[in-house]
Amino acid sequence: MDAVTVASRPIGSVDRLVRMAAQDMAGVDRLIMLRMDSPVPVIPALAEHLIAAGGKRLRPLLTVAAARLCHAAAAAPDASLKLAAAVEFIHTATLLHDDVVDGSTLRRGKIAAHLIWGGSSSVLVGDFLFARAFELMVETGSLRALNILAHASSVIAEGEVLQLTRSHDLSLDQATYLQIIQAKTAELFAAAAEAGAVVVGAGEARVQALRDYGLNLGLAFQLADDVLDYGGTASDLGKNAGDDFREGKATLPLLLAMARTSSVEAGFWQRTVGDLKQTDADFIRARDLVVGSGALESCLDLAMDYAAKAKAALSGFDNNDWRQSLEALADFAVSRLA
Ligand code: IPE
Ligand code: IPE
Ligand code: MG
Ligand code: MG
Repeated sequence: MDAVTVASRPIGSVDRLVRMAAQDMAGVDRLIMLRMDSPVPVIPALAEHLIAAGGKRLRPLLTVAAARLCHAAAAAPDASLKLAAAVEFIHTATLLHDDVVDGSTLRRGKIAAHLIWGGSSSVLVGDFLFARAFELMVETGSLRALNILAHASSVIAEGEVLQLTRSHDLSLDQATYLQIIQAKTAELFAAAAEAGAVVVGAGEARVQALRDYGLNLGLAFQLADDVLDYGGTASDLGKNAGDDFREGKATLPLLLAMARTSSVEAGFWQRTVGDLKQTDADFIRARDLVVGSGALESCLDLAMDYAAKAKAALSGFDNNDWRQSLEALADFAVSRLA
């Protein structure tokens, strides 16, 4: 399946940020490997299956970069590395839970953990990783950072439940869709950046600016992710395209396409999304309708608006390498293919 190319997207890159943060992130990875261990055999095996598969590590990168942007030192302090590891554990836990809820079969290019160890083990190891995240956060001694990430964890769960209860709703409005993606995705991006600033003692204006940056980045990121579910390929994504449609998940590309084609396609949408009666060929037709309706461009335009807001949130910081690479990350969130 060809990826849909959208010419107007900015070309963002995360390479520079990854290079600048490489040493700090190596420390984060060491903590992750150390803290996912357990004497109970299934736990490290299942956790390693997902964690060793990589992932972009974007959220811990945000914590480290926020700490560095606010704290001009050669290396990020230990507490920020612990918070970054905790952020990735929270993210990993939500992925384990999410793949069970969504019935997804592929994650990070590998067979989903619940298909190997079962749904119960996946959910319980997710709980274990959540708990390990809280231990790491407590060790930092920052009650405020703990509060930020604890709150984010409950908001993510609320977002996932809200999405679940509205998933087949053909009349979902854009405001509710945005509320869902803010809760399930953007809140953790916001908290990751905010906590990174808090733990190095940044002033209130900087803490708030980094929170705004993360929130808008997260909205752009999830919008692009929802576009990729119709426009991407499994080999790029490391997860199957079409999962959202097959679940009948009312993401913005689908909502816009339905609104724009309902005069002739109402029956098709009702059967495939409303009643979830699908054949294998239906995704191809749905994708053609979504692409043909211009819904992906509209979603990416909205994602670019959020990316611009993310960049604008950094305007009060010195225009240094960290700020510039966080700005590039906002463009990357929209232009990424995986
Ligand atoms: C996946 O996030 C979940 C979403 C919010 C779309 P990522 O795309 O950051 O996943 P990894 O960590 O790189 O695998
Ligand atoms: C991502 O949900 C958000 C969380 C994991 C909390 P999705 O279901 O949209 O993401 P993918 O497509 O499985 O990565
Ligand atoms: Mg999912
Ligand atoms: Mg989901």
